[in-house]
Amino acid sequence: MSEISVLISEEDIQKAVDKMGKELTEVYKGKKLLIVSVLKGGFVFTSDIVRRIENEEMKISFIKAKSYIGTQSSGNVVVTGDDDIKRMNLKHWDVLITEDVIDTGRTLYELKKHFLSCGASSVKIAACLDKPSKRVVDIKPDYHCFEIDDVFAVGYGLDYIEKYRQLPYVGVLNGSK
Ligand code: IMP
Ligand code: MG
Repeated sequence: MSEISVLISEEDIQKAVDKMGKELTEVYKGKKLLIVSVLKGGFVFTSDIVRRIENEEMKISFIKAKSYIGTQSSGNVVVTGDDDIKRMNLKHWDVLITEDVIDTGRTLYELKKHFLSCGASSVKIAACLDKPSKRVVDIKPDYHCFEIDDVFAVGYGLDYIEKYRQLPYVGVLNGSK
């Protein structure tokens, strides 16, 4: 994969995820924690972070989210694959949405609203990567591992046309800004 330059090494990612796992173990101590992983990109980060959070009540769920922004349905996010969550009474649950990257922020802004309207006790966001310079809505991840510039990242769940998700590091395609 010579066309990819390493931006964040596997070792650095694992150290950051270890640290976040310890922090989240403390934050959610004694609470009912529902992890909601946003597919597809969030699957690698989710799999690493859930194995570092000690919480006996933790449940893990996966959803797909599609944002429809524009003249027809501005700001709407259509959530699919959440049948198991719909069957839960979220009243006593603290939701932690796990994502690969927060870019414009549109997806997570809408997802946060969605789960708050479902009655969750709290809704927070844990993202592996944060691109604050790209934000167009007022949202910040509550927890993030790395801030990155406006680059197109691949690996550690992130894809370029469905490729490179399996890389254990975060890279940048050579030639992309
Ligand atoms: P949003 O713009 O914050 O709503 O980001 C939505 C989604 O865009 C993310 O969850 C990723 O799946 C995708 N995305 C954003 N930036 C990148 C990137 O640098 N590489 C690959 N996918 C990205
Ligand atoms: Mg994503």
